[in-house]
Amino acid sequence: MANSRSPRPAPDDAFPTSTSRLQAETEAVLLDHIPTQAQAESAQLPAKLNRSAHVQFLARNFIQGFPAKYTSQDASQPWLMFWTLQSFSVLQVGLDAGNKQRAIDTILTWQHPDGGFGGGPGQAAHLLASYASVCALSIAGGPGEKGGWDQIDRKKMYQFFMSLKQPDGSFLVAHHAEVDVRGIYCLLVTATLLDIITPELIEGTASFIASCQTYEGGFSSASQPYYSSMPYTPESLLSSPRPPLGEAHGGYTFCALASWVMLQPFLDLSPGGISRERPQINVKSLVRWLVQMQGSAAEIGGFRGRTNKLVDGCYSWWVGGAFSLLEALGVSASATGEDSRASGRDAQPGEEGKDGENEHEWDDVDDSFFHREALQEYVLYAGQHPTGGLRDKPPKNADAYHTMYCLSGLSSAQHRMFPSVERREQIREAWKAISPQDTLPSKIRKETFLNSLSWTEDESASKILGGEANRVNATHPVFNLTITHSESIMSHFYGQKVPS
Ligand code: FPP
Ligand code: ZN
Repeated sequence: MANSRSPRPAPDDAFPTSTSRLQAETEAVLLDHIPTQAQAESAQLPAKLNRSAHVQFLARNFIQGFPAKYTSQDASQPWLMFWTLQSFSVLQVGLDAGNKQRAIDTILTWQHPDGGFGGGPGQAAHLLASYASVCALSIAGGPGEKGGWDQIDRKKMYQFFMSLKQPDGSFLVAHHAEVDVRGIYCLLVTATLLDIITPELIEGTASFIASCQTYEGGFSSASQPYYSSMPYTPESLLSSPRPPLGEAHGGYTFCALASWVMLQPFLDLSPGGISRERPQINVKSLVRWLVQMQGSAAEIGGFRGRTNKLVDGCYSWWVGGAFSLLEALGVSASATGEDSRASGRDAQPGEEGKDGENEHEWDDVDDSFFHREALQEYVLYAGQHPTGGLRDKPPKNADAYHTMYCLSGLSSAQHRMFPSVERREQIREAWKAISPQDTLPSKIRKETFLNSLSWTEDESASKILGGEANRVNATHPVFNLTITHSESIMSHFYGQKVPS
């Protein structure tokens, strides 16, 4: 695989700018990290996941505490916990009971007395901190008096969510704060896991998400705020144009698309109030934008977060991970005939398929929208810090955020996840045995449960670059938790059994 593609520099227009210089410098650094054919063949620089170094990096932070350079992240304590615990999970490392309890007790200190979780003890509740805390509890916690799950005040969490709701269907990320799609994603995951989604909570939210799609195809952080069309009526909110605010970005695109997927069961409902048109997104331009975020061979197939910016390991998840989400919309590369050629990696116009030196470059292209092995190369060759932990790109240091998102991105490149009709049926049967009636609230809960837990791995389609020793756990495409952790917490709160 190594050097089987001839890395060409990104084309430029011969007018150097700081952007083009940075791009060229980055390519030079990255190229230095691809082993030559000879090195790869002699296994001097194999594509090896340095599992033990990463576990040591994570354990040092988790057990001894984060080093002083993390002081600025005092309001992100739930994130540090989630990134660490989820990295362990992706690496297939379980925690012992003592460490789990320590994590549970710490996470509960972040719960706000008025609902939701803050970034640390005594800090204001925030949607992002609530998501990270609940996900961390999904991993470390369990039911019972000290297990953490039953100590989450779900009623107050719901009230906190409702207090952030805006007339256009969006949510503030915290009181007196801004609106953005990260907050909506965090709210929807938390509400889904804890079984507190209601039609009232998410009314208008899908329309808001749709309004954040930009002309490029990806999503921006938000759209024009509702108060810009004041005085408003529900009708004027819907009829006034809602241009997106800012540019398409991988982080926001993941959040918007995952939210869109979680909102699918509600799209056909007209929950009270005026009847709304079914909101729509442009899936074709979204797919085109996503594939174009994959870097060329000179960038070892990493993903960038926005047009004309640099590749970065965390987008292995935010963009690489977004492709699985498309499966929930019935869009897959094999069905549409698109594949990673659409990303423009390497191929110059007219070169694809013709005889010649580049033909072999596409031998390993499968029916994915992106080059799954190339992304694994980016994470393994450029993302891994030699002393443990993963990073944006060399020569940067490793950090907790990039460690988790590089590993989750590696997971999404290794495993093909899809919503399985058979799995859905199995879970539906089990649901029927416990809750036979289909009254409206239970129907909504059921759809949310089935949609969330029908994600299954197509094991025949996994691709593990560097061999089995590099295998990491599959992760839930929407929540970024393992399937086991997703099933455990959801079956607890929904009072349902999930067939094994
Ligand atoms: C740009 O940083 C980064 C953003 C505009 C926000 C990114 C959003 C996410 C990563 C999603 C977070 C999701 C949740 C759930 C909290 P930059 O200019 O340093 O990076 P760039 O050059 O790669 O765009
Ligand atoms: Zn990054």
